[in-house]
Amino acid sequence: MCGIVGYIGTKKASPILINGLLRLEYRGYDSAGLSTIEKNGISLMKNIGRVKNLSELPGIDDLEGTIGIAHTRWATHGIPSKENSHPHTDNSKNFSVVHNGIIENYYSLRNKLKDEGYTFYSETDTEVIPNLIHYYYKNLKDEIGINRFLKAVRNACLDLKGSFAIEVICKDFPDNMIVVRKDSPLVIGKADGENYLSSDIPAILSFTRTFYLLNDFEFVVLSRNDAKFYDTDLNPINKELTSIEWDAIGAEKNGYEDYMLKEIHEQVTSTRETVGARFQENQKTCFNELNFTKEYLSSLNRIYIVACGTAMHAGLAGKAIIEKLCRIQTEVDIASEFRYRDPLIDDKTLCIFISQSGETADTIAALKLSKQKGAKTLAISNVIGSSLSRESDLAIYTHAGPEIAVASTKAYTSQIVLLNVLAIYMAEVLENNDINYLNTLKKDILELPEKISQTIEHSECVKDFAKKIYQEKDVFYIGRGIDNAIAKEGSLKLKEISYIHSESYAAGELKHGAIALIEKGVTVIASLTDKDLTKKTISNIQEVITRGAKTLIVTNQDLDLSTFDFSIKIPETNAFISPVLAIIPLQLLAYYISKEKGLDVDKPRNLAKSVTVE
Ligand code: AGP
Repeated sequence: MCGIVGYIGTKKASPILINGLLRLEYRGYDSAGLSTIEKNGISLMKNIGRVKNLSELPGIDDLEGTIGIAHTRWATHGIPSKENSHPHTDNSKNFSVVHNGIIENYYSLRNKLKDEGYTFYSETDTEVIPNLIHYYYKNLKDEIGINRFLKAVRNACLDLKGSFAIEVICKDFPDNMIVVRKDSPLVIGKADGENYLSSDIPAILSFTRTFYLLNDFEFVVLSRNDAKFYDTDLNPINKELTSIEWDAIGAEKNGYEDYMLKEIHEQVTSTRETVGARFQENQKTCFNELNFTKEYLSSLNRIYIVACGTAMHAGLAGKAIIEKLCRIQTEVDIASEFRYRDPLIDDKTLCIFISQSGETADTIAALKLSKQKGAKTLAISNVIGSSLSRESDLAIYTHAGPEIAVASTKAYTSQIVLLNVLAIYMAEVLENNDINYLNTLKKDILELPEKISQTIEHSECVKDFAKKIYQEKDVFYIGRGIDNAIAKEGSLKLKEISYIHSESYAAGELKHGAIALIEKGVTVIASLTDKDLTKKTISNIQEVITRGAKTLIVTNQDLDLSTFDFSIKIPETNAFISPVLAIIPLQLLAYYISKEKGLDVDKPRNLAKSVTVE
């Protein structure tokens, strides 16, 4: 968690740093701080709360430095406080550091440094870093110039266990900054006579479209006009620049009140982008990045889909379509469970990892484990060049555009679309399916954008229902088959941004316990999109109605809706892709309830967009 930005150029650094932090607030927002190099040494400004509080500190506008680092925090070690917020300096205030990640061996390093006479002023793991750099720096007296700074940073980093993206400035080198990452994101945006740094691309996209994407343990010495890259032995390495196609406006709110609402609406275009040019008339599905053969796919003993949160819910839809079309056993795992349960993996296993950010620590760790055990790995991410996609043998992208709201919406629907396209591709390679069925499914996928647009037209109706139930304490979501997967995601959305307790249940499971909680007035939301299971689910809905429940039905079936309190009719489509439509009223419901309660929709409490710690 946490967001970091940096700047080295010819302009005043502090306004640029604040601007970047505001865009990274989704990564953490309990405190923020920045450091610049001024004529009289290193400046340090910190405040608790949002970035706005930092920007209002007296004296911040007087900073003249043209090189600086900044941080917005999501607390891991130590409470949100001024002392614990970043940047952290060494005892002599020679070095200032911002850090995203967790230093697992900070306690022993801290004790070692204490024995060397260093004092610690915060409860953070980060504070060991500047002091460790100082420790090496003072013992590298024979090294001259920037090499001394670089070696000190390198030596310190080799002592660190855990994850880190760090930016370091030093009073003795007002024209340089050193940065490095391991298992935490960091990108460098290159412009004319200046370099920008950030935890993600959108935060600095308004300044440049040309980026260096860092790999683990690449040490970078930045100056205004240059970026020099080194490996851990400090041998120079060549680094290519990557051009980013997104525009800065894509990362802005575009007139919507909140990013989440904008991203819900963007699903019309994002799902279209996800399909891209993969389906061509009279052609097989195009996945040049994969090149799977019939022999390879036939040899697979199983597929694992591994992810966290919403991405895992998309995986449930992926399992359904892969098993249906490819007849390969497919298991869906929560990454934090998978990595510790000694899963049965060998070289005949394909492991698919789904992550919007591509930076989720548990998902990356699960991928590394699968590779060690010999599996082929395939990453599905929304972020080109993310850690997950670079670690993986193969990578494909959802191309949904930047998702800023903490609650994932368009990434989820794009993940489901891409998993369906992938399953069709694999089925075509396997040559084990009725071509007409595959072609119909392709047509249904291509029609999704129009149907999403029709579904969003129910917004006002959903808003009315939100007004009726926003004060509730418990809400239940139910469904069978694919509708159970929709229920799980609908329930997660409500919890995340409205803070209402909710549960999702396989509809047939209710009577095995949870129905005891149903009493007069309790809201039960059911999804009914699989016609083969509709009658069964309706019986379950009748059971809760009998016990006094208030019901909202989301369906694409022609049903007698008069028995339900509220209903939303969505366009009909193939059951395997129905979550893409059925989730939209549930996303909107969570959104409008959150608004009705006056909550911060885009930045819900206790959550961060990208969970880069275990
Ligand atoms: C989604 O609304 C959540 N904020 C969360 O569950 C998220 O999907 C999860 O943390 C995984 O993130 P990722 O897709 O970036 O890996």
